[in-house]
Amino acid sequence: MEKIYIFESSLREGEQAAGCGFNPKNKLEIAQQLERLGVDVIEAGFPVSSPGELEAVKLVASKIKKCTVAGLARSMKKDIDACWEAIKKAKKPRIHVFLATSNIHMKYKFGKAREEILKMAVEAVKYAKKYTNDIEFSPEDATRTDLDFLCKIVESVIGVGATVINIADTVGYSLPMEMYRIVKHVKENVSNIDKAIISVHCHNDLGLASANSIAAIEAGATQVECTINGIGERAGNASLEEIVMAIQTRKTLLQKFTQVNTKEICKTSRLISHLTGISVQPNKAVVGSNAFAHSAGIHIDGILKNRRTYEIMKPEDVGAQGHKIVLTARSGRHALKDKLQKLGYKLKDKDFQKTYEKFLNLADKKREIFDEDLRTLVEGQIFKIPETYSLQYVNVVTGNKTIPTATVEIKQKGKITEEASCGDGPVDAVYKAVDRITKIKTKLLDYSIKSVTSGKEALGEVTVKIKVNGKEFLGKGASTDIIEASAKAYLEAINRACQPRK
Ligand code: KIV
Repeated sequence: MEKIYIFESSLREGEQAAGCGFNPKNKLEIAQQLERLGVDVIEAGFPVSSPGELEAVKLVASKIKKCTVAGLARSMKKDIDACWEAIKKAKKPRIHVFLATSNIHMKYKFGKAREEILKMAVEAVKYAKKYTNDIEFSPEDATRTDLDFLCKIVESVIGVGATVINIADTVGYSLPMEMYRIVKHVKENVSNIDKAIISVHCHNDLGLASANSIAAIEAGATQVECTINGIGERAGNASLEEIVMAIQTRKTLLQKFTQVNTKEICKTSRLISHLTGISVQPNKAVVGSNAFAHSAGIHIDGILKNRRTYEIMKPEDVGAQGHKIVLTARSGRHALKDKLQKLGYKLKDKDFQKTYEKFLNLADKKREIFDEDLRTLVEGQIFKIPETYSLQYVNVVTGNKTIPTATVEIKQKGKITEEASCGDGPVDAVYKAVDRITKIKTKLLDYSIKSVTSGKEALGEVTVKIKVNGKEFLGKGASTDIIEASAKAYLEAINRACQPRK
């Protein structure tokens, strides 16, 4: 198996993401986490860009011991000097020099001809070489560069000491098969390519950054540049977690490995998200909150029988908490049964069937059913007291300029009675309508309502305490509709009062 070097650029390329910037303390914290993650190279920044940036890179360079620390420099002496100043204390320093080589960049950015660009690149690498042996050269916009010119410039910079050649898909324009062809072409047509590592730096403008990086590896690249969560300029870059997990998950096919400690991936992702303020989209591969969440009944059934039916990686291998079974109306019986068992409920078939029906009713109203929803549902079922009165229907009309009015329908011994009443508020109106039907004299001692779970569709749970004939009775009711929950709670308390005294 061949080793693929991971060049991590969250601190340089990632910092170019709109709205993202790290102070020196944050940079160091990230760099130390990247070291724990086991990346090979940390690109710590672009030292010439500001004195603060130079100091931040210096700080990272002085503390990181296991990884190579790289700094970016344009092909200019002042950039290279600043870069060296920043990284010279690193245990393993690397100067990363770049220069655009595509016709469009050469013409519009520099107004220079190929020969001049070639000369600038060679001089820059020679100049950097006087500081350190480890020199990376990036032909910027390489994938839109004339292939013969690309090979010529690569050969020339290797000739003066470049040790890493980084083929940059700067604008994320390449398709995987093109990336493969370009890297292969460089590998086969640059006479001294064996003296350098081939690297790739892929942007994600077409969502192909990781696929392009893998294609490049197939063609002979042994270093990939990437960032955590794929942060970077515009649509970002190839994300470390995708590349590393693709290599690990498909190692038999690729015959490659990385030295990354994959168990640190999620932690690193959270740190970057926290410090950049850029949240990770839920369906982001590997690190998204839904990356290991299963919701469809067929999938959950498969997962519960054997994880590998729908999981190609183990969540714990990337430091995720484990897979998540999301209960919705489409999750199916197997999912519900499994979840109830995990919550400690063992229901008889008959009770389970009833619970499942209630679950479906609730799931139609709520998008996701949480553990607390299930507890409320099951406990309402288990501790249910016989219903002398059962609620059939409740309707309220209310508003800040309307007298609250309720209509209630209740079944007692097979007979349905309907009543209506006004009240001080909608709940008061409901309770008065109930009283008209039951004709039981009650005194409401306490009423409280709480949300069982969070979110706008959460279950509301109402608890009431009433007094009937000098005795106190409790009732609870839950529903996504708090008026219905209030009616259920009140009736449960009344039903309790109706039970023979024991
Ligand atoms: O996108 C790019 O081309 C770069 C180079 C400096 C590698 O960031």
